[in-house]
Order: sequence, then C-alpha cells, then structure tokens
Amino acid sequence: MNSFQRTLVTTALPYANGPVHIGHLAGVYVPADIYVRYLRLKGENVLFVGGSDEHGVPVTIRARKEGITTQEVVDRYHNIIKDSFEGFGISFDVYSRTTSKTHHKLASDFFRKLYDDGKFVEQTSEQFYDPETQEFLTDRNIRGECPRCHAAGAYGDQCEKCGATLSPDELINPYNAINGNPLTKKETKHWYLPLDQYQQWLEEWILQDHKEWRPNVYGQCKSWLDGGLRPRAVTRDLDWGIPVPVEGAEGKVLYVWFDAPIGYISNTKELCDAQPEQFGNWETWWKDPSTRLIHFIGKDNIVFHCIVFPTMLKAEGSYIVPDNVPSNEFLNLEGDKISTSRNWAVWLNEYLVDFPDKQDVLRYVLTANAPETKDNDFTWADFQARNNNELVAIYGNFVNRALVLTKKYFDGKVPAAGTFNEYDHNTIAEFQNVKAELEKLLGDFRFRDAQKEAMNLARIGNKYLADTEPWKVAKTDMERTATILHLALQIAANLSIAFEPFLPFSSAKLREMLSMPAVEWEALGNINLLQEGQALGEVSLLFEKIEDATIQAQLDRLANIKTANEKAEKQEALKNWRPADIKENTNIDEFGKMDIRVATVLDCQPVKKSDRLLQFRLDDGMGGRTILSGIAQSYPDPSVLVGKQVLFIANFPPRKMMGIESQGMILSAVDADGKLVVTIVTAPVRNGSQVG
Ligand code: 2FM
Ligand code: ZN
Repeated sequence: MNSFQRTLVTTALPYANGPVHIGHLAGVYVPADIYVRYLRLKGENVLFVGGSDEHGVPVTIRARKEGITTQEVVDRYHNIIKDSFEGFGISFDVYSRTTSKTHHKLASDFFRKLYDDGKFVEQTSEQFYDPETQEFLTDRNIRGECPRCHAAGAYGDQCEKCGATLSPDELINPYNAINGNPLTKKETKHWYLPLDQYQQWLEEWILQDHKEWRPNVYGQCKSWLDGGLRPRAVTRDLDWGIPVPVEGAEGKVLYVWFDAPIGYISNTKELCDAQPEQFGNWETWWKDPSTRLIHFIGKDNIVFHCIVFPTMLKAEGSYIVPDNVPSNEFLNLEGDKISTSRNWAVWLNEYLVDFPDKQDVLRYVLTANAPETKDNDFTWADFQARNNNELVAIYGNFVNRALVLTKKYFDGKVPAAGTFNEYDHNTIAEFQNVKAELEKLLGDFRFRDAQKEAMNLARIGNKYLADTEPWKVAKTDMERTATILHLALQIAANLSIAFEPFLPFSSAKLREMLSMPAVEWEALGNINLLQEGQALGEVSLLFEKIEDATIQAQLDRLANIKTANEKAEKQEALKNWRPADIKENTNIDEFGKMDIRVATVLDCQPVKKSDRLLQFRLDDGMGGRTILSGIAQSYPDPSVLVGKQVLFIANFPPRKMMGIESQGMILSAVDADGKLVVTIVTAPVRNGSQVG
C-alpha cells in the first residue's frame, strides 16, 4: 500500500493552433479520462487538469496563414478544442488556457524566482536572423530542404514528410518560412536552465527510482541521460508569449516549453481559488508529498515532462515531481503520419458532426488500437469492423437480447432469480474474476488490455444466452427462463460498471434502459444490482451498424486531402527552388569514360505492373536496344516521345528489372517538383552518334 492521499492527473496542453484530432484523443485524453473515471468510481480523491497551450510559434504561424491576429487564433481554437473534449466526455475538472491572467502571473513569478535564486545561466549565441525583417527566427519558422529525405519545406525542428527530428543548421538552403527570405546568423542573449547540473539527481530519480515507468518512457529518458544533458534555453526572441520579467530582456518571451507545463499549476490554482470548498488549496495538489502526480502525454513530449519540467520544479524547490508519465507512441492515419499543417487527420469537431452520438465508438476503437507500446494505425475499415463486429455484435447484441426477451416474456420487469444451476454458477464465477484483472490492468495504465477484459465480460454474457437459449426454454419452462434472464440482466448491469471508464455515454444509456442508478466500482461482480420485479426502461439499440457508404465518404475526404497536399508540396518546391551546388571538379578524361549517344525512340510503353517504369525501344544505329527508365509518373502519355531523338548512356552494364533487360540509361533533367524531362536533340543527327 502506498501512502498517497490524492491523485493529480494532467494531460498535455494542446496547442491552440488548430482543432484536436484522433491522435490527441488516442495518445493522451482518452487514456487519461479512463484512468480518472476509474479512480473516481473507486471513490478516490482525484483532480483532472487540462487546458490549451496558447503560446509558441505554431500559434503565430496559424495566425499569419489565416490572416487574423494571434489572439483571434487562440480564442477560436481554444473554444473548438474545449467543445471537442466536452463532446467526447473528457471529464476535466478544469480546462483553462495559458493566456489567462493567473497563468501569466504564475509563470512569470516562477521564472523570476529561479532567476533571483541564480538557477539560470546566461549565454550569448548565434541564431538564424532575417536581415530584412530584422527578426530572429525560431526553429519552426525556418524551412528548407530536408537533409534526410530531400523533401522541400521541412521545418527547422522536424520534417513533416519523413518525420525526422532536425535542427535548423541541418536544413539545406534554409529560408524564412513566412517570406522566403534567405537567412544570416546574429548573436543574441538568452537564459538557460542548466540541466547538466541536475543530471545526477535525474539519474537517481528516474533510472533508479522509477524502473516501473513504461519502457518507451524509461528508454527515452535513459538515452537523453546517457547522452549527457546540456543547458537548455528557456527564453526566445519572439513577440508572442509571456515577457521575460528581467530588465534588459525587451523583445524576449519565455520559451513556450517553459511556460506551458506551469499551465498545469496555474489551471489548478484557477480552479481551487474559485471553488476552494470543493477542490481545496492548489498548493496541496502541487506541494504536498502525499499527492501523486501523473502526466499523460504523447511521446514527443517525454523529454519535457520527464527531464525539463521536473528540473524546473526541483530548482524551484517547493514542488513535488511526477510519480509516473504514461506516454503513448503515435497514432497514424491510413498509413501516414497525422499532421495538423497538412490537414491529415480526423478532426474531433468534424467527427462529432459526422457521427452524432457515436463518441463511444471512437473512444472504443482508439483504446482497442491504442499506441501504448508502438505506433499504431487508424483505418476507417478497422473503425467499421470494430463497431460492427464487437460493439454491435457482442456487447450491443447481448444487452439487446436480454432486454427484448425480458420485455417479451416478463412484461419488461426483472424476473425472479429462482435457483441457479451449475452452469449459472460457473458463469457467475467467470465474470466475477474480471474485476481483479481489470483493476490490475487499469492500475498499470494498460487500458487497451483492460478494455479487452471488459469486452470479455460482454462475451461471457453473449455466450451465456447463446448456450442457455431462453427463447427455446420459454416454450416449456418459464421458471428456468426467468432465472436465465435474471442473470443476463445482472450481467448487463455489471457491464455498465465495467465499461463506465471506457464508454461513459453507453454506460449511461444502458443504466437508463435498466432503470439503474450509477453505482460505485466496488459493486462490480455483484449479482444483485437489479431487484426482482423492478421495471426496465425504454429499450433501444446500444450501438448501431455503420454502413459501407459512411466509411467510403470518409475515405473520399482523405483522398481529396492527399491530392491537395501533393499539389501544395509541388508548388512549395517550385517556389523555393534553387539550383543545387556545383559538384566537385572533374575532367575531360572522367567525362570521356561515359559513352553518351543519340537514338530515335521507336516505341515507348508503360511496363506492366510497374507505376514507375517505361520501356523504350530505340534505334541506336547499332541494331537497336531496349532501355527501361523510371519516368512513367512524368509521362502519362509516353507516345509523345515516339519519333524523338534522345540521349542515352550506352556503356552501362545491362540490368534486369521486372524481368526485362535494360541496356543503358536515358538522360533526363529533374525539375524542382521532381518531374523528369527527357533530353531531346534539337536537330537531326545520325543514330549512334556520340555526345562529347
Ligand atoms: O506538443 C504539444 O502539443 C504541446 N503544446 C504540449 C504541451 S504540454 C504541457 F507542457 F503543457
Ligand atoms: Zn524528410
């Protein structure tokens, strides 16, 4: 037994630069909500804190893109996000924002205390600078060619195309993301949190004392610590954020990752100050060692919550540090990385419109597929299958049969239990085991397996009805029919408790159908939740089948977004294209080794089963040859090349592709958007002539 008296649960504050999507819900908010609902059901003292992260560059980028002020952006998206969370039943005690007065003061005071206590180091360094607009550029405002996958328009901190984490120095041809200006470097002063001074404490606290953390979290912390921590700047040259409360720091604000986690504290304070009788003193939640602090986050936030924020709290001196940081990996969408800027997401606000009253379906699918140990993929086909084959066919079907049969044979009243036979007792024993298993899994933050366990309870119920066949028994033995349906209804009542943390809307609906009050977790496993003779409520379907056309509409939407993104990426590439650097010097002897010749294209066809290759038949003046070239995407109608005289390399060794031998290479130029254009001779030359 631990000595904790209360649990403070925080969820990463999403940037208010766009609506929230399924990745947010799966990675952070549904698991946190399951956990909090479970603790509340158990009668524990728990506080659930959320809010919007309204500073930082992503917000300013969105403002420029939409042509509105930064304040307008955060007002708009804070409300959309808040409504979405409410829509999905994420049961925050408080959902506030980092632009609140309380937060500005608390974050500013927090910085000032560390500053006064001499906890920062000041350093001057060279940063990217736009000489025309006279501003320093943050990582997110610098774009350029990705050094890994060579996509155009990668950001200074990350390439959205291949997912690589980058630093702006690595970008090829970096430019100002807003105006395309080339950048120089300039010196600027900032305050740094000397993480290196806390290395030893962090090693003890995490690597020794928290071996129970999830392997992905522990592993990431270990690799940061093994690499040796360095001081981190906690201020930025930017005009949006909390001003650095130090003289001579004009034009500088707190780094968003310094102020955002303090938002957890500010939001707690805001709630407690407003309703002290109900929620107590905010300092008890943050400073009393008998509080257990749990941060739910996504994996890109691990370093900030396990290393940077705890160091800030430790440096301040009066705060507790987290007990656990259950971080998930990422959820992808139909095989591609979810991206706000590329609109590749299922937006929660849109889902709520497209699928009214189906919040629990998404909660269920995202938990069933939760990226707890590795990245996972959301597909609409899986969404449909899990709804139709699990929620409808198992849980919904069981509940519906139990209720409808009770209406039919017992006038909608809970029938008498009578005498349970051996099979009934076995069934009861089986489903009573579920409670302990569920508790263990929920306590270990294993929500995916826990939900599976709850579903097993529905499976037990379904099997019980299938095996006992009350609709047949009713023809001969009403007493036995009563017993079967009595027990089936008690199992249904239990399901409403077991699923309450996961599917709160369905549990409420089920309770209504059973005319049953909300009960505590402890009641799970009890087979006297419903009283004999008690009238049931209106019966309706707990879940409904989702049709193919509904799924197709979502797939069509995504296909349109993909096409639009490809177009935009090409435009971005063309807009910022500059010729590549000249390769290192060579000479005529090296060039002379290459046997480049002229040939006329006799025939040009796509290669079957390849979307990349074209097959050329050439008159090369030497009896003819076949060459395969990977340019099919650039020539949807390859017949335009027939009759043209092209250049090819004649002395490459033959190579087989797709079962066809290719005897050389056709020369093409690569345009900025990746389009390949075959080089053509401008006046007739004899086939087989050499180029030199
Ligand atoms: O990654 C993000 O979306 C950040 N806005 C999370 C901040 S979490 C906390 F520190 F507030
Ligand atoms: Zn890349």
